[in-house]
Amino acid sequence: MGDETSEQQALTERGSNRSQRPTSNAFREFIADGWAEGGMPAPVRGPAVAHTAVRRGRLSRLFPGERLVVPAGPLVTRSNDTDYRFRPHSAFAHLTGLGTDQEPDAVLVLHPVADGHDAVLYFRPLAGRDTEEFFADSRYGEFWVGARPSLADLQVVTGITTAPLDELADALAKDVGDGGVPLRVVPGADPAVAALVDRLRSGPTRGTDAEAHARADAELAEALSELRLVKDSFEVEQLRQAVDATVAGFAKIVTNLPRAAAHPRGERVIEATFDGHAREEGNAVGYETIAAAGDHATTLHWIRNDGRVEPGTLVLVDAGVEVDTLYTADVTRTLPVDGRFTDVQRRVYTAVLDAADAAFEVARPGARFRDVHAAAMDVIASRLEEWGLLPCSAEESLAPEGQFHRRWMVHGTSHHLGLDVHDCAQARREMYLDAVLEPGMVFTIEPGLYFKADDLAVPQEYRGMGVRIEDDVLVTADGNENLSAALPRRPEDVEAWMAGLLG
Ligand code: GLY
Ligand code: MN
Ligand code: MN
Repeated sequence: MGDETSEQQALTERGSNRSQRPTSNAFREFIADGWAEGGMPAPVRGPAVAHTAVRRGRLSRLFPGERLVVPAGPLVTRSNDTDYRFRPHSAFAHLTGLGTDQEPDAVLVLHPVADGHDAVLYFRPLAGRDTEEFFADSRYGEFWVGARPSLADLQVVTGITTAPLDELADALAKDVGDGGVPLRVVPGADPAVAALVDRLRSGPTRGTDAEAHARADAELAEALSELRLVKDSFEVEQLRQAVDATVAGFAKIVTNLPRAAAHPRGERVIEATFDGHAREEGNAVGYETIAAAGDHATTLHWIRNDGRVEPGTLVLVDAGVEVDTLYTADVTRTLPVDGRFTDVQRRVYTAVLDAADAAFEVARPGARFRDVHAAAMDVIASRLEEWGLLPCSAEESLAPEGQFHRRWMVHGTSHHLGLDVHDCAQARREMYLDAVLEPGMVFTIEPGLYFKADDLAVPQEYRGMGVRIEDDVLVTADGNENLSAALPRRPEDVEAWMAGLLG
């Protein structure tokens, strides 16, 4: 046991043992004084203000008379007392237009009024320099993490009425009683806000109908997801920027391939090249970069990225830049490390490319989302049949009770793309897999073939190779646009592009 003093000091206070904070009144007065006025840049109206108002209006019409609570989420601890860089919940970003690291603990509330809802954005505004927070709070203080906006600033930026976070609890409680205003909160966004909402909507006479509340919240999550299925013009523009930045990042990877091939952890060279680019050109990567050489490419989410990048093998790179508004690209290219595909690599690559092309053919208004996958699978199954790998015909394999071809492509062909790399994930099946495609939808087309090094069902020459080609697709009025078309896909184009970059 320690001495009496350390036993009495709460564990949560022990972090202060590494330094001593000045506490005298004289110091407090001194640090609060002598700062120039108006040092902060003037706030600028955000580019998405008109669009977010339309999105909130659509949500409002789905839940008349109800109070809707959409938290940004809290800071998340990485270890001990250090946090991850903050990223707001995507539903919050979608409805406020806020991106990058804005704003930890903020909560958007749609308060019901006679003709819809009034939106109010509750957040922790900048604390004065005469507060302890200013210099002593390492999580929120201006001296530690920088100045936050004022209430007036964020109102200009978002076009939404703002209020201090400490008014949230009373605002949520208003008229919430028996038969009063129903509350819904986005599940999983902020446990403290969810607990507050749960306390308010449970009561001695109302009881705690946890299941009904969970259902109500799930319906809100579902609606928020479905609201994002068709992108507006601002979102499409953001996705274009994300894809363009991603295309530039792939070119940097190729330029760095010789260094990767010479490094004992060449996959990390690729990852670091792309991730550095993403931080320079956007907010970050939209998901952990997959840099998978040789057999590692058969692990679908290989993000350890600590392997060698051997000449003669393929390296699969799945990476996306997330721009400051938090829209992300999701692109995969499978590259021959030394710039030329071998015959067997080209054969597998071409099968995957043909599957992707078949999927592009059907991805147009009027088709169903599931048809895109089906078109890709037709090609994959028939190639596997040609190569003698299926235990049956391609036709039998494609039947629901067959599906043997999926041994070599266990993932789906497409997913919606937007603020989340797997966007709209809470949408109902009839709105997603079974939905009819509409202009403005953006999703990936990403067939692949993965032959593990120990897969005895395929000849030796195929083993230890994974190929995926992933593009980002916008459904247009009369077909589709491949947003990532600037990145070569055909094997001969990939080789020519690499040759040009490698000199
Ligand atoms: N990068 C994850 C995916 O392609 O779905
Ligand atoms: Mn994807
Ligand atoms: Mn991907």
